[in-house]
Formats: sequence, structure tokens, C-alpha cells
Amino acid sequence: MKFGIIGLGYVGLATLCGLAKAGHEVIGVEKDQPRLLRLMSGDVPFHEPGMADVLRDYPGSITFTDSITDTESVDYLILAVGTPSKSDGSCDLTFVDAALSEVKSKQKIIIRSTVPPGTTDMLSIMYPAHTFAVVPEFLQEGRALADVLKPHRVVIGSDNLEMCEGLAGIYGRLGVPLVCTSPIDAEFIKYASNAFLATKISFINDLARLADKAGADITTIADGMGLDPRIGRAFLNAGLGYGGSCFPKDMHALLNVAHENELDLPVISAAMHSNDAQMGYVASKVEHKSGLKVAFLGLAFKPGTDDMRDAPSVTLAHHLALREIDIIGYDPLAKWDYPQAMTVEAALKGADVAILVTEWDELVNLKPEAFDGMRTKRLIDARNAWKYARDPGTVQYEGIGRMQNKANTPSSM
Ligand code: UGA
Repeated sequence: MKFGIIGLGYVGLATLCGLAKAGHEVIGVEKDQPRLLRLMSGDVPFHEPGMADVLRDYPGSITFTDSITDTESVDYLILAVGTPSKSDGSCDLTFVDAALSEVKSKQKIIIRSTVPPGTTDMLSIMYPAHTFAVVPEFLQEGRALADVLKPHRVVIGSDNLEMCEGLAGIYGRLGVPLVCTSPIDAEFIKYASNAFLATKISFINDLARLADKAGADITTIADGMGLDPRIGRAFLNAGLGYGGSCFPKDMHALLNVAHENELDLPVISAAMHSNDAQMGYVASKVEHKSGLKVAFLGLAFKPGTDDMRDAPSVTLAHHLALREIDIIGYDPLAKWDYPQAMTVEAALKGADVAILVTEWDELVNLKPEAFDGMRTKRLIDARNAWKYARDPGTVQYEGIGRMQNKANTPSSM
């Protein structure tokens, strides 16, 4: 079968690679010229395991172009363009609209971009020549291709029976649960899933702040809770809060949809505010002292990616910079605008506080001696991930919600 894919970011390129591996012919459309040229030379423009191998191994099945008209002969046209936030938090559909207005032939269109509930129904009215389906993506950056090849489920939202059956036939080969539903339900499932995961993180972060005061260990609490299959351990890692190109944007967009429907979503709003507060809370652990130098260990919004979009490291750095604290960062892949060291040793040299911001393997496995070059050997583990937390040697260790203040434990207990 032949697919066109418009927009070759994480979602579009992962989808393209997955389809090529499954034996389909794919035409990728990318308007950004530098990105297009890199892709044409087999170079993946971001850190994402496995994709460069697919571009190398399936050259006969993959074509790259900057022209949507080159996709006229495809069986399905997939839209994977960005849907960023507008300044009011609502979802900006400019790229979706721009792409669709260039599609001149009658097409079966699959919306893979994250769009607010109701969007596809609206697009079906605006572009009546096409047939639409929404197939949201649930991939995580850093394992995008693996998630496309083996998702937990595939959700197909379409009012067109032929389209539903066609897509069920294609995705059914993955051998994973299929949910066939209306476009609005499919769009909702995507937002609800991200909002639930983000809320789970804020829930545990709220309790981590309490655990800090009460003298409990949030990691043990999460382990104990997570054994209940109704709760599950995933996404209960307390720390600096969530970031990235999806959770913050989708939480805002969902609240915006609620607002348009004259509704409040108090749980979602609270989860979002809690996430903002968490970054301020971690910043408050750094003392107010002039001339203080703080080393950020890790910058990316999570390990396994070089993506800095909505990275908590940047928000934390802003908090500290306002207090005129000197900041230096280190990350194996990601870059930022604050000073950056090429090695962990160089970042830690002469620092008064180190903050473990992103739980890269090389950072969580740093031995206590690695901190010897610091002026004061103090580590704030903002991901509760340092392997030597229980045996820190001469490092003054502080996690988030991890047995900080036993004195506040009620005396009656
Ligand atoms: C997220 C979802 O997990 C995917 O299912 C979804 O498809 C994707 O958004 C999207 O909408 O495109 P991603 O943004 O790649 O994927 O990142 P996650 O692995 O979900 O992590 C998001 C943030 O939460 C990171 O900053 C991470 O450090 C933080 N996090 C995660 C925690 O603070 N605690 C946890 O226990 C888990």
C-alpha cells in the first residue's frame, strides 16, 4: 500500500519508518528545507533510536519531498504536522489547515497530529471532498519507533465504515487491541490519556512535598501504591515535574476546550498548577547565598532525547537566575542558552550545589567521588534517581520527598 505523510517531526517520521518496515511505500513531505535535506541524506534530525537504520535499510520504499502534490497517488494521506499552543493555551491548527488546503486530489486522510475534540468533524465539513479518520499517536520520545511498531493499543476514529475497516485491516496486523470509534472519542482518548498521566505525576509530586515535611520516603510510598494493579507504578516518579512538547501543551488545550464549553476541570487545572509549583519547590531547596554556583546534571526534558521543548531544566534555571545564582549545565545530547560544560567533571568543578535534573544513565550512576571537584559536595536529586542515594559517602544528598525531616513525624506514632 502507498502512504503520504505530511510533517516529519517525531510523530511523522516514526510513522513513516514503521510503515516502511511493514513493507509499505511511503512519501514523506517536509516543508522545512534544512530538515528535508538532512532526511534525504539519511540523517535523522533528532536523537531517536532505530530511525536512521530504517532510512538506510529501506531506501527503495521511502521518498522525501517538499511538495504535497507529490502525494496525489497514495492510498492514504497521513497528517502529522505540529499543533502548537497559541498564547491563550488553545491548540493552533494553522499547520493542519495549511496542509489540507494544499491537498487538491480526493484523499483518505488520517489525522495523526494531536487535535482537540471536535476538530476532525469540523475538518470534514470544511474539506468535504476527503474522507477522514483520526488515529492518535501514543508514542514516547526516545522510543518512538518501538512504540509505533508495538503500541499498547490503536485507536481509530472515523464515521466512515469503509475507512474504519481499511485501517482496522492495516493496524490489525500489529496484533494489539483496536478501538474503533467516532472521531471525537478518538481525539478525546488522546487528551484524556496524556492528562491522566500528567495528573498522576502531579499527584505524587504533591505527596512528595508532604513526605519531605513529614519525614517519609515518596519512592517507597510509590512502590507500595504501585503494586496495586488498579494504580500501577508507572508515572509515579516524583521529582521536578513533567515537561516536553506534549503534556504541558495538551493540558492547556484541554482546559481551553473545557472553557469553550463553559466548564471547569478542577483536577486538570490543579495538576497543572502543582507542576508549576513543583519546579519552584525544587528551586527553594537551593539556599539564597550570593556567588553560589549550581551545576545542572542533565538538561533534556527526560533521558533518551535531545528535546528541550518545555524542559523543566529551563524553568528551574529561570527561578535560580532571578536570584543571581551562577548556573552551568551538562547534558550528553541536549543544548541550552545558559552556560554549558562539555563534561560532568567540568560542570561540577567549583560548584556549591549539583542538581540531578535528567536521569540519564551516566548521571544516575555517578560515583560519590565524581563530586570531589565541587566547592561544597551537595547533590539535590530532582529525579530521585541517583544510585548511591543510600550510600552517598561524603556527598550531602537530598532527594524530593525522601526522608528529609524525621523531626516532623507525629510523636504519637
Ligand atoms: C508523552 C506520553 O507519555 C505519550 O504517550 C504521548 O504519545 C506523548 O506524550 C505525546 O503526546 O506525543 P513524552 O512527551 O515523550 O510522551 O514523554 P513522557 O515519557 O511521557 O514524559 C513526560 C514528562 O513527564 C517528562 O518530563 C518526564 O520526566 C516526566 N515524568 C514521567 C515524571 O516526572 N515522572 C514520571 O513518573 C514519569
